[in-house]
Amino acid sequence: MQAIRKAVIPVAGLGTRFLPATKAIPKEMLTIVDRPTIQYIVEEVVASGIEEVILITSEGKSAIENHFDYDFQLDTVLKEKNKVELSEELTNISNLIDIVSVRQKKPLGLGHAIWMARNVIGNEPFLVLLGDDLVMSDVPCCKQMIDLYKDVGESIVAVQRVPMNETYQYGIVEGEAIEKERTFKVNRMVEKPAPGTSNSDMAIIGRYLLMPEVFDLLGKTTPGHGGEIQLTDALLALSNLRGMYAYEFEGKRYDAGDKLGYLKAIVDFSLQHSTLGEPFRKHLESICNGCGI
Ligand code: G1P
Repeated sequence: MQAIRKAVIPVAGLGTRFLPATKAIPKEMLTIVDRPTIQYIVEEVVASGIEEVILITSEGKSAIENHFDYDFQLDTVLKEKNKVELSEELTNISNLIDIVSVRQKKPLGLGHAIWMARNVIGNEPFLVLLGDDLVMSDVPCCKQMIDLYKDVGESIVAVQRVPMNETYQYGIVEGEAIEKERTFKVNRMVEKPAPGTSNSDMAIIGRYLLMPEVFDLLGKTTPGHGGEIQLTDALLALSNLRGMYAYEFEGKRYDAGDKLGYLKAIVDFSLQHSTLGEPFRKHLESICNGCGI
């Protein structure tokens, strides 16, 4: 069985859901507590034992690459000012992992963005993480998926149950439970089903472990929902070709690309923060009159 060494993170999207905040900065650079959201994603990848990240970028996204780069000028100033800890922290970020960037020249859809990674990935299974989806969990979500892959040896999509009146916002998986805990064999997948067209509440969140055959299938995928080349459509073909599993991961997922989801993430991640958590909890308690946060 081939090891999982690489992760693709598409960051080419325009971030229209978050305008005007994202007019001049990438949505992936919006901050949660003290780090941009993209850093949480890359840290999940690193904590899952991945060796290389492939960012799928577009014009106006260079702040993301700069964030993970070493800034010689800034570091020199920090050292001159004896800000040793800060210098170390920034150097650690630049040493987190090897990062390769590939440009998606036209916004043709998530499926097309992933297809752009084909030459850098080559012929090995890999992870995909969507930058909007943050997961808080004891074991990193990607690590949970890699552990399951070692057992099942096929593609896996992470899923969570959503209310039936929200399924139209997600890729939806229909499948049947197998003997492994939290695991389902995929029968059908549909991107953002119209109400009443799927009776499943299993929604794909932005974590995928995929076999490299997906690239050939993406190359043949025609525009689907919203006129875009959809990853979910190629995944259905992949599940028919080789089989695929859906995995109800352990943890909590936040849609940080949505204003309310982002606020929820800020509150929950702040409460977990090593130094800010306690004073922030006291502040919340003071404004909600002892509601027991
Ligand atoms: C994408 C995928 C969808 C998935 C969702 C999870 O949609 O196409 O299948 O359920 O991410 O966040 P988007 O939210 O980018 O429209």
